[in-house]
Amino acid sequence: MLTLGIETSCDETSVAVIDDQFQILSNVIISQIEIHQAFGGVVPEIAARNHIENILPVLDEALRKANLTLDQTDQIAATTEPGLPGAVMVGRVFGKSLANALNIPFVSVNHLHGHMASLRLSHADIKPPMLCLLVSGGHTILYQVNERWETKVLCTTADDAVGEAFDKVARVLGLAYPGGPKVSQNADMNLCFTPILSKFPKNTFSYSGLKTAVLNYINRAKQKGTSLNTAEICANFQYCAVLQLLTRTREYLQTTGIKTLGICGGVSANQYLREQFQVMCDELGVKLYLPKSELCGDNAAMIAAAAVLGIK
Ligand code: KG4
Ligand code: ZN
Repeated sequence: MLTLGIETSCDETSVAVIDDQFQILSNVIISQIEIHQAFGGVVPEIAARNHIENILPVLDEALRKANLTLDQTDQIAATTEPGLPGAVMVGRVFGKSLANALNIPFVSVNHLHGHMASLRLSHADIKPPMLCLLVSGGHTILYQVNERWETKVLCTTADDAVGEAFDKVARVLGLAYPGGPKVSQNADMNLCFTPILSKFPKNTFSYSGLKTAVLNYINRAKQKGTSLNTAEICANFQYCAVLQLLTRTREYLQTTGIKTLGICGGVSANQYLREQFQVMCDELGVKLYLPKSELCGDNAAMIAAAAVLGIK
């Protein structure tokens, strides 16, 4: 059985084909990063218009790479929430129309469940029950996932998402959008000796306090005329951002007794986060699953995989 996936929820237009064994036959992604960089972030209306331009060529390329024709696909899955409304609509309407014309089923996929499915695409042996930490540009959520891939939210953010905080810090430091990878590249963890803010509220994730603390630190330095050490600021921010994820996740691993942890979403590409979670999981005897690096960001293969798994 072949599933055609479609993803247009933010600034990537992507179409993929996977089989029921989770083999990726094609996963074509056109990123609009360069278009939005000039504005320092994603402009929703521009994103939606570009999806309209890109979707047909991306579909053609995905079918060509998979060596298939459209009528060989058995179902179509598209992201239908959450995301930029105009952008999501392009993939949703396009996917539904295709499914209608081909007289095959259409599956609505939650984008966050898609990120979760990137773990199954990366690891054939992954088996819930597990905890799953989703860290992206718009969300920071710790899920409990049962054997049937049914999810329950254990903890979410009270304000900003962790990826959003990475992007804001990068922006004030003059680093290009998307800021997460830039902050990570600039961070010299040897300079991480004065955590900017290591306190955070209990029982929730929260990134607005950390973001403000970093912005205030930068503004104070500018007012005093002291030069900014970008490597040190990035290191301290990254340390605090990851410490919070580690602390909360450790608490839930201990209270639930669950011995499998998955991490997914754009921020799961962060090397420091990967290393620190590995250390913690080794200490707790927990098996850690991370997506392959090319599947951390938004892509349609993960949307197709979420449909095949039936994540709810
Ligand atoms: O999952 P994703 O591609 O899109 C959303 O669904 O939001 O996540 C994008 C987020 C952005 O905030 C980006 O800065 C962040 O992931 N990101 C990173 C890294 N790579 C991407 N954050 C920290 N370190 C990275 N290496
Ligand atoms: Zn995403």
